[in-house]
Amino acid sequence: MAINKLGVLGAGTMGAGIAQVGAQSGLQVVLIDLEQAFLDRAIKGMIKNWDRDVSKGKITERNKADFLNNITTSTHNIDFQDCDLVIEVIVENIDIKKKAFKDLNDICPPQTVIASNTSGFSITEIAATSGRPDKIVGMHFFNPVPVMKLVEVIPGADTSEETVELAMEACQTIGKKAIRAKEAPGFIVNRILVPYLNDAATAYQEGVASAEEIDEAMKLGANMPIGPLALCDLVGIDVLLMVIEYFYKEFGDPKFRPSLALKQKVRAGHYGVKSGKGFYDYSKK
Ligand code: CAA
Repeated sequence: MAINKLGVLGAGTMGAGIAQVGAQSGLQVVLIDLEQAFLDRAIKGMIKNWDRDVSKGKITERNKADFLNNITTSTHNIDFQDCDLVIEVIVENIDIKKKAFKDLNDICPPQTVIASNTSGFSITEIAATSGRPDKIVGMHFFNPVPVMKLVEVIPGADTSEETVELAMEACQTIGKKAIRAKEAPGFIVNRILVPYLNDAATAYQEGVASAEEIDEAMKLGANMPIGPLALCDLVGIDVLLMVIEYFYKEFGDPKFRPSLALKQKVRAGHYGVKSGKGFYDYSKK
């Protein structure tokens, strides 16, 4: 089944990125969040990205106008009613996600596939109470969405093969490489990446080196495109802490014990780039 209309629930960094790539690929996109201010901020970010692409000669003013025309924003979930695929990109809280899926089930027609961008929660658990477990799938994007090529596609226990195929096809339509992963905490990338970031935070906490030195060491010594602590700030320290706490609980293995440095940053409200401060200060940038 071809996808024409894409719904995105949640206009934060990831939701805005997914809406942006959808609109750029010629899909009609409905972007929904609780408050108009969140939607306005998301559209502003997309315009900024497209303006940069215009100035680099990668797209024209006309392309930009077409992309913008492809997006509708709303604060009412009812506007998802004619979407072929809706991607949920809301807060990483399993109970809030489960409720959102029930609400979406009430609104969307039976054939609509509903995907979760969860960073690692069980798709089976989200699907079980959704009212349409065969039509629920994980589609995990990476930050920044317009740049990162991968989407992990994760079937739950009752996801139909047709649903997985639609998700894989949607990735192709929006220019992403889909890799199918079995359901396991963190899927592929976060299972490996998040403990690495957590270890970097622990090294920082223990005073092994400064944040700048840890990041430079990993860039120069391991060819990482970005240092781990700068990446913590980019992803969101609150999100990382939630993910690593979930791993610790699910695997019961001390190797996933959350770093005190991550906990302290979250307690202080220093979530990274989005809050203006994390391991680095972004308030003057
Ligand atoms: N939105 C859109 N485009 C962006 C962007 C953004 N937020 N940030 C950078 N770009 C674009 C730039 O415009 C530039 O485009 P051109 O090639 O057309 O000029 C390109 O990306 C490179 O940007 P820069 O030269 O400014 O900076 P850079 O070389 O440092 O690259 C980066 C930026 C690609 C983000 C790089 O730092 C990087 O690869 N970082 C690692 C990102 C990563 O690992 N993400 C995964 C996080 S884990 C996750 O998301 C999953 C989860 O569940 C937690």
